[in-house]
Amino acid sequence: MIYPVLLFCVPTFPERDKSAFGYDIHGTPSMEGTFKLPRKQGYTLFQIIRRLAIGTCFFSHERDSEWGNLNLGSCRRPKYLRTRVRGVAIINLVNLNFSMSPAVGRLQQLGQRLRHSIMACGNTVPAAPWREAFLSHIEQLKQPTFTLSSLHSANPSEPSSTSHLVPRARTVVYRGMWASLAPNPKNSAQLNPTSFQTDLPTVTTDARMKKVSEMFTGSDPDSLSNVGGPVEAVFWFPESMTQWRLRGPIFMIGPDIDSAEASPVKEELMPYMRRVGTSEWNWSRELTAHFGNLSPLMRGTFRNPPPGTPVTQKPEAGLGLGQVVEDLKDEIARKNFRVLVIVPEEVDRVDLSDPERGRRWNYRLDRAGNGAEWSEAELWP
Ligand SMILES: Cc1cc2nc3c(=O)[nH]c(=O)nc-3n(C[C@H](O)[C@H](O)[C@H](O)COP(=O)(O)O)c2cc1C
Repeated sequence: MIYPVLLFCVPTFPERDKSAFGYDIHGTPSMEGTFKLPRKQGYTLFQIIRRLAIGTCFFSHERDSEWGNLNLGSCRRPKYLRTRVRGVAIINLVNLNFSMSPAVGRLQQLGQRLRHSIMACGNTVPAAPWREAFLSHIEQLKQPTFTLSSLHSANPSEPSSTSHLVPRARTVVYRGMWASLAPNPKNSAQLNPTSFQTDLPTVTTDARMKKVSEMFTGSDPDSLSNVGGPVEAVFWFPESMTQWRLRGPIFMIGPDIDSAEASPVKEELMPYMRRVGTSEWNWSRELTAHFGNLSPLMRGTFRNPPPGTPVTQKPEAGLGLGQVVEDLKDEIARKNFRVLVIVPEEVDRVDLSDPERGRRWNYRLDRAGNGAEWSEAELWP
């Protein structure tokens, strides 16, 4: 087990141990009062203190050669612990929306750091128990569309207002699980090898669309790779009479994905990417493969006039409806093209195929020990 805690011990750190603050703290004080610190440079003392003060530390007994030890000397653990936060509380923080209020926004930031820290010291998330059934249902659809919902501030001048949140929902096309793009003879892009398997549904979108600023608070039309808020993806499969609702945060993959600025996105997604092969795998290659997987006319929509603006506004040069884009590096289209990745942390499945006996399941990703595991429960429908 790891126990996330709120720490109030920083001011009492022995002076001699401050030399160790050059390391990143996803730290884990052991029961003997020892901090284990990943050997990653670059954090200032202030960042470390802030990090500790908001409680992104975990207890762990595990030994790992990549982690250094910082002995807290005579400090005893109970002295500097006031509150313990259970894993479930972390998940709730993670699921809060930035836009709800500044305070909640800060809580979500904390939640994201906690999630990041959980994953930083954890293992890869195991395959979802719902995966096989879900994929078999997806295969039944000729065009696998679903409804993607998010929250939207009704008052754009006050995006942080809590009282003016309204839902938004739109139809989108399921483009496969992240890192598992199916071969397509019409796709001239180089595909990544099958090095990973994930349970993360993807969608392609245009960065200029409203959903992007709704899901990725503070983002603008030029927004790049980003960590977003909570969404719900609703799928209805008429053949199997089953509804699936996938809930969790959403991530955006943009043209900057290979840069250092996009590291938070990659670091948060990596734990959900299970290694199934050893071949070299590349993020921007995956992004381009998604672009190539679209028809040339569909690629051309990324050169449309800005979505949602009045038709009376004359589009800029290069923009217009009905364009055909063959070039996978088309500058304008690629500037607007994004892949969205949904990370389901809770799944609700309702099977109404038997009118006399509807069935319903809840799947939940629970943090446990150094990683996470899925739980499954059958519910009354
Ligand atoms: C059948 C169908 C499939 C669609 N697929 C997508 C999609 O994959 N990605 C997308 O961004 N919009 C898609 N759209 C358009 C969205 O539903 C929506 O109109 C558009 O994205 C603007 O929404 P927004 O203002 O909430 O961003 C699709 C619409 C339909 C009717």
